[in-house]
Amino acid sequence: MLRVGIVGFGFMGRMHYARWKAVEGAEVVAICDANPNIVEDTKKAVGNIEGAGGEVDFDSLDLYSDYNKMLTEAKLDAVSITLPTFLHPNFSVKALEAGLHVLCEKPMALNVDDCRRMITAAAQSGKVLMIGHCVRFWPEYAKTKEIVDSGACGKVVAATFQRLGAAPTWGADNWFSDDARSGGVALDLHIHDTDYVQYLFGMPKSVLSRQARAGGGGAVHIATQYIYDDDKVVTAEGGWAMTPAFGFEMSFNIALEKATIVYDCTRAPAFRVCPAQGEAFTPEVAAGDGYSIEISHFAALTAGRDVARVTTLAGSLDSVKIVLAEKESAEKGQAVLLG
Ligand SMILES: NC(=O)c1ccc[n+]([C@@H]2O[C@H](COP(=O)([O-])OP(=O)(O)OC[C@H]3O[C@@H](n4cnc5c(N)ncnc54)[C@H](O)[C@@H]3O)[C@@H](O)[C@H]2O)c1
Repeated sequence: MLRVGIVGFGFMGRMHYARWKAVEGAEVVAICDANPNIVEDTKKAVGNIEGAGGEVDFDSLDLYSDYNKMLTEAKLDAVSITLPTFLHPNFSVKALEAGLHVLCEKPMALNVDDCRRMITAAAQSGKVLMIGHCVRFWPEYAKTKEIVDSGACGKVVAATFQRLGAAPTWGADNWFSDDARSGGVALDLHIHDTDYVQYLFGMPKSVLSRQARAGGGGAVHIATQYIYDDDKVVTAEGGWAMTPAFGFEMSFNIALEKATIVYDCTRAPAFRVCPAQGEAFTPEVAAGDGYSIEISHFAALTAGRDVARVTTLAGSLDSVKIVLAEKESAEKGQAVLLG
């Protein structure tokens, strides 16, 4: 039995809890959160994707507010780190040093040095460290990667990705709105699509971005062109500037030589492949959502099962690098090369 602890029991902590419950051979046995009212606050539903609102059986969990105490007392094999981003490196390194496997939410960290520190700690511990880039596991995105990689529909001509919603206001102590703790809209939200662009097409040669600020605060919307050696046009935009009534949209349109693939979580059907000849159709995709598949994948890795890795630490670091280059590009008003 894989004994799992969840560190940070806000929106994503509860999401991980709900998804871990479905993993055979694993059990969430402990939770660590700095909030003394965590049991009451857990009853409030928050976040931009449904699925974090299920019942939590606190009677079956050991509750900690002190992380060190949890690491020494709870006899864990693995932790889900679902803390505000600025805490990812230190908490991940500590768990790895204590001999635990770590599933850490995206983004890996706020800067490259911290990512490297996490990679070194993972290598020294011999344990699994995986960054939760859930979009790679999202059934329609995974199917699209499969179609693009197969070459059956020809080369990609153009691809555009969107991730749009209202500003996240649920964060403990409003940490999302503080660039120093979240990395802002680019590193927190838009990185999902940056990482997927990198997953599909590899490291871009350069990026050219624009971002908008609102009310004198940090950036609330970023749009980027990812420039590759060939002439395909790849763009992604992520924004927190929508009104709450808009809800949340994650979507993409990919034009290949012999088909167009579209996904939009706000539409029905959300996912369609439109071939050059014939009717559009919705391919069959894996059951579950990106979180459940990601967590099962992590559990399989910790068990030493021979599964093809969907994420790599180098790739997660590269996604941070690309987003930092996007922010730099937006600040300078010019393209930024990626080494
Ligand atoms: N994969 C996704 O789709 C997705 C979606 C949203 C957020 N996230 C990521 O998940 C992470 C957490 O985001 P969230 O929305 O759950 O935030 P949140 O504010 O809802 O939850 C964070 C929790 O951590 C707790 N916490 C803060 N400092 C702590 C400490 N020192 N020790 C113990 N607990 C502490 C807070 O009390 C809170 O309960 C972030 O890195 C975010 O970028 C990922």
